[in-house]
Amino acid sequence: MSPAAPLLQTPPAPIQLPLSRRMSRMTSSAVREILKVADRPDILSFAGGLPAPELFPVEAIARAHAEVLATEGASAMQYSITEGYPPLREWISRLMAQRGIAAGPERILVTNGSQQGIDLVGKVLLNAGDRVAVENPSYLAALQSLGGYEVSFDAVGSDAEGMRVDELEALLTGPTPPRLIYVVADFHNPTGRQLSLARRQQLVALAQRYGVPILEDDPYGELRFGGKDLPKLAALDDQGVVIYISTFSKTLAPGLRVGWLVAPPSLVKSLTIAKQASDLHTGTLSQRAISKLLGSFDYAGHIGMLRGVYGSRCQTMLGALEQNLPAGSKWTVPAGGMFVWVELPEGMSADALFHKALEEKVAFVPGSPFFVGASSGRFMRLNYSNRTPELIVEGMQRLGRVAKG
Ligand SMILES: Cc1ncc(COP(=O)(O)O)c(C=O)c1O
Repeated sequence: MSPAAPLLQTPPAPIQLPLSRRMSRMTSSAVREILKVADRPDILSFAGGLPAPELFPVEAIARAHAEVLATEGASAMQYSITEGYPPLREWISRLMAQRGIAAGPERILVTNGSQQGIDLVGKVLLNAGDRVAVENPSYLAALQSLGGYEVSFDAVGSDAEGMRVDELEALLTGPTPPRLIYVVADFHNPTGRQLSLARRQQLVALAQRYGVPILEDDPYGELRFGGKDLPKLAALDDQGVVIYISTFSKTLAPGLRVGWLVAPPSLVKSLTIAKQASDLHTGTLSQRAISKLLGSFDYAGHIGMLRGVYGSRCQTMLGALEQNLPAGSKWTVPAGGMFVWVELPEGMSADALFHKALEEKVAFVPGSPFFVGASSGRFMRLNYSNRTPELIVEGMQRLGRVAKG
């Protein structure tokens, strides 16, 4: 019998499956579209929030993976507990102590990057219709993640000292107080700023007085290259109102997708159940390899090196901005992290500049998408960690030409 001839039929049009209501809050962010354009190989981009790839400890990470596979391969390939690999949680607990946060391993949940920590906190603490207080501007993917729980945002202004705690207090005493306060206290994304010591103390005191949890998102704290360490909000809290999240993304490599969360034990239980429902656990191989790596690798030395390189790239960028941007431009002077936040002079538009800059083959992220509500349209975020000093100078020269042209 000869095989049946294929039927020549036009395939039916795909059915448009209806999406959940929550997805209407989770549109692909404008920044994602911008990053796609900026990622073109011909563009010198300062748009992404990427660490320097040449500084990833790739060989040490490769050795750690090889050792894990050679000595505990079957366990590293097996399902594991949701809480995280116990030796890694113990190591994180010691790291937390160095950051002034007393947290035994039972208070630590290993997550798939700190991004998952944000999402789990939203899932566990927020109901549709709740309000969340955020600094304005704020980290976009936190707005996207928390927004998915059908909440509304209360924009709290920020200035050189970080979040305006007086504005927050007005919200907390108002008719519809927030259910959660989201803060990046150290080297904020997008502004690069730090919350001052006085504001840290006031913020924790307010959260305790009104019983409203703070989500302290700290991916950049280790990347300090100026000034002095300030206490983490979680270190100032003795009543369990601060949930702290951090990550290996900016210190080792984001591709590992390993972060963690520190919360009071009862909340960790709920967060663990939520994580179990979401992904069972963070990758066993990544967790064991990081744990192996940390056993022999000079983590503190590596971070010292990152601080030195990022500090000098930041200085290069600040100098190049001074030389190239039009008079009347202002920018933040970060003491750590990966971003400078620029305000263009009156009458200029960062969106218009973005399109003109692409013609000169240089890119940045316009600031508007980071705001809850309207903004002046004159802000832009520049990343300095991902480019060499030579390219930073070249990029800022190009940007200056278009901005002045
Ligand atoms: C403020 C902030 N929080 C969280 C994250 C997510 O980091 P990861 O999930 O890689 O740990 C980022 C990434 O850029 C960030 O800027």
